[in-house]
Amino acid sequence: MDGSAPITRQPGFSTRAIHAGYEPAQEGGALVPPLHLSSTFAFDTVEDAGAAFSGERPAHFYTRISNPTLDLLERRIADLEGAAAGVSFGSGMGAITSVLWSLLEPGDEILADKALYGCTFSFLNHGLARFGIKVRHVDMSDIDAVIAAFSDKTRVVYFETPANPTMTLVDIAAVSAVARAHDVLTVVDNTYATPLITRPIELGADVVVHSATKYLGGHGDLVAGIAVGSSDVMERVRLYGLKDMTGAALSPFNAMLILRGLKTLALRMERHSQTGLAVARWLKAHPQVRTVAYPGLEDGPHYALAKAQMRHFGGMIAFELEGGYEAGVKMMNAMKLALRAVSLGDAETLIQHPASMTHSAYNAEERALHGISDGLVRLSVGLEDADDILGDLEQALMV
Ligand SMILES: Cc1ncc(COP(=O)(O)O)c(C=O)c1O
Repeated sequence: MDGSAPITRQPGFSTRAIHAGYEPAQEGGALVPPLHLSSTFAFDTVEDAGAAFSGERPAHFYTRISNPTLDLLERRIADLEGAAAGVSFGSGMGAITSVLWSLLEPGDEILADKALYGCTFSFLNHGLARFGIKVRHVDMSDIDAVIAAFSDKTRVVYFETPANPTMTLVDIAAVSAVARAHDVLTVVDNTYATPLITRPIELGADVVVHSATKYLGGHGDLVAGIAVGSSDVMERVRLYGLKDMTGAALSPFNAMLILRGLKTLALRMERHSQTGLAVARWLKAHPQVRTVAYPGLEDGPHYALAKAQMRHFGGMIAFELEGGYEAGVKMMNAMKLALRAVSLGDAETLIQHPASMTHSAYNAEERALHGISDGLVRLSVGLEDADDILGDLEQALMV
């Protein structure tokens, strides 16, 4: 070492969220990457086109498969997640279905957590199951139950952490290690945490999926999905799951909006998390509140794991009131600042009732079995002033 070697430190998360994969000099100095709306791409000769279609020469040829604006978004999110490659989709469900159609065949088994977003539960049990794929649900916060649930037909392990809506956490490193020992791929829905908070690939998972509609976009003005993983698996997902099975391509315009949202992802997640913790503590201390599920509560069942695998605790809270379902509905109807709406991760605080809204795809028996009580209230803490959010909750609980 001669002492003059340049510092080669990897740029930090926020720097990469703003710059990764883009060089203004290649685009006439444009600070903001150009938006490529083109649906198709022209070739000089049929032979050139043939080489692109056969994969011999990398090129964009049709936006359902790839496009320069989508490519930048995919590379940027792959970078933030610590993955080799990514594929974008027209929705989170587009990402989940494209990935699972690509990884599973009739006769295979998928091992899934008990608590899952309602449409994911529906896709597994009313979609994949109809095509000869066995779905086994297991409480993935219990590693012994996970180990016991493997069979020689298991091909994929699938979970969310924190899970929607129960906020249970799964030990990504532990479950991924067991899956790897069985030669099984682990797919993690990282929508609630985002790569700022948790990076499942670094903990041993194989594929990460997102509803980019939520925190990645961050402004409630688009629907989108993303998957990241190894180059091999992502190529399979792009050229089979996306191209042939779902066709769930993302609009380049929405990709541009997500690239804009990513510039403030770290700032937003820090603020969501700061206010989330304040609201969770406030709810916990309120006499009308029976339970609060939030990873940052010191006496919560997952606190040690949350500290180990989350850099912040996020903006999602699930709680139940002493008065159960009736009291929960009354409180939600009395909220003035928080909007009664599904979705999450927006600047606006959103409140909703999983049993009748996001998780109505589960029937009553399934909800009971999967730990989603009728009185559960889901709160997506927004970016408004914490005092205003607390004041809104306080007045709604007094009604
Ligand atoms: C955890 C989670 N995964 C996936 C989805 C599906 O995403 P989208 O609505 O973008 O299709 C959602 C939607 O709410 C979600 O909450």
